[in-house]
Amino acid sequence: MIEIDPWNPEPVLIARAAAILRKGGLVAFPTETVYGLGADGLDPQAVRKIFQVKGRPQDNPLILHLSAPQEAEELAELDGRARAVMDAFWPGPLTLVLPARPVVPEAVRAGLPTVALRMPDHPVALALVRKTGRPMAGPSANRSGRPSPTDAAAVEADLGERVDLVLDAGSVGIGLESTVIDLTGEKVLLLRPGGMPVERLEKFFSTPLEIPGGSEKKRSPGTRYRHYAPEVPVHIWDMKEELPRALDPAQSAFMGMTSPPFGFARVVLFDSQESYARGVFAAFRRFEAEGIRHIVAEWPDPSGIGLALQDRIQNATSPATFPATIP
Ligand code: TXA
Ligand code: MG
Repeated sequence: MIEIDPWNPEPVLIARAAAILRKGGLVAFPTETVYGLGADGLDPQAVRKIFQVKGRPQDNPLILHLSAPQEAEELAELDGRARAVMDAFWPGPLTLVLPARPVVPEAVRAGLPTVALRMPDHPVALALVRKTGRPMAGPSANRSGRPSPTDAAAVEADLGERVDLVLDAGSVGIGLESTVIDLTGEKVLLLRPGGMPVERLEKFFSTPLEIPGGSEKKRSPGTRYRHYAPEVPVHIWDMKEELPRALDPAQSAFMGMTSPPFGFARVVLFDSQESYARGVFAAFRRFEAEGIRHIVAEWPDPSGIGLALQDRIQNATSPATFPATIP
């Protein structure tokens, strides 16, 4: 693990990381959303290492990270709409699923005819992709199913020795993963709410996004798996109903934006939905380390980043261990 300046990354460190990637190694890197686990996206063997190290199901495809919109031309079939979206939202927390060109390895696509592309808004990620001269395959740098890492220590805790280098640029700005939309059909599909608020996209497209259901769900394989879950059971609380009786506040942690009406073993309060989003995964990991028995999460408002926050909290609940109060 090496510290790197998040705003003006040291060229010597970027060169060292790029050399590892070009040799087929793995480098964990910061983005504005969460930390990613990078590999040369055109090297199938390097990409396969990502799946091994994360314990990721083989049928869950990866995002390719770019350092400029033009790099998308050789990887995907672009139309005017796709180019306009990139123009409007890149760099930023928006991933586009597009028809793939043959150069994209099957391992990246997990066999699908499409590819997910994103240009992250982080100087370190951009410098690294530029220096490597390759699109960088990069899932979140957690063990599969765990909360995404929002700092380098979380990457170390999950992947440690199994990564060739971790670039430590401090804590991320957004804290939840990118929004993923599918542009392969006439309608724009929302595959995963994330850092880019849906309201902004709907304004841009002048139409509501479609939420895929039924067979469409197969398009985003990642949504099939239990995700983002800490080892401690998570319960949603809308703060209106009573807490489930079996849940003892003295052994539980509370996180949210409103002061709870009675004592919990640990209370983490955020002053905005943005800071709740930024802190949610780190709080999950901290509560685990502290030996907390149950996590109670205030159900956020769905506006802006709130929709993604709802999605991640919902995904973190484990109905098998405890009945959550789901509003
Ligand atoms: O913010 C982010 O997106 C972070 C940072 C590191 O960039 N990356 C990230 O990657 O969250 P990952 O692999 O954890 O999540 C990628 C999501 C998964 O749900 C995956 O199924 C979906 O994107 N995805 C990737 N390629 C796809 C494709 N061709 N079609 C549909 N969904 C795809
Ligand atoms: Mg992930």
